[in-house]
Amino acid sequence: MKNITVLISGNGTNLQAIIDNVKAGKINGKIVAVISNKADAFGLERAKKADIPTYFIGHKGITREEHEQKIIDILEKEKVDLVVLAGYMRVLTSLFVGKYKNRLINIHPALLPAFPGTDGYGDTWNYGCKVGGCTVHFVDEGVDTGPIIIQRANEIREDDTLETFKQRGLDIEHQALPEAVKLFCDDKLKIEGRKVKIEK
Ligand code: GAR
Repeated sequence: MKNITVLISGNGTNLQAIIDNVKAGKINGKIVAVISNKADAFGLERAKKADIPTYFIGHKGITREEHEQKIIDILEKEKVDLVVLAGYMRVLTSLFVGKYKNRLINIHPALLPAFPGTDGYGDTWNYGCKVGGCTVHFVDEGVDTGPIIIQRANEIREDDTLETFKQRGLDIEHQALPEAVKLFCDDKLKIEGRKVKIEK
């Protein structure tokens, strides 16, 4: 069974999807910690409700590396196998990425390599795309550039608003992210260069 940590900055609906899948026995892992860089992230409440240890690690007044080291200290204590970024809105430095290489995954709200950055849904919508979606990928040193594990499309309808497009997108994320976590925990993911092979 793998030890999973989830890093969040906000509402934590993706965290909730992982919690629910772990509870349902669909993921061969245990969430050992939920860490937020925002004190008021609602995801911390979701974790507490599920009896998962929570940590708020603020980043004000310290360097990025000092902030990341505080998180690493927790991860080492908890003997973490997989780190999941689920709406974690800080770019990580090579200190963190190097340490958790091939064990660090992120969910991004666009079909990468289109629209990296902080507003995947807004950028997809404003560009006038007919299809958006989400990407779960391993994290490397770049911004949203690591090897892709899963992508799911979300067709934009004539009667969509940004809000309805986003809501449907989040529902799709809640399927895609637990699926990727499950595959990782089952040792089904093999990274070959830029490609991630999913073993049967
Ligand atoms: C999700 O849409 C996730 O893909 C996005 O933030 C939202 C978090 O929602 N992540 C990024 O944009 C990362 N660059 P949640 O807190 O309800 O899971």
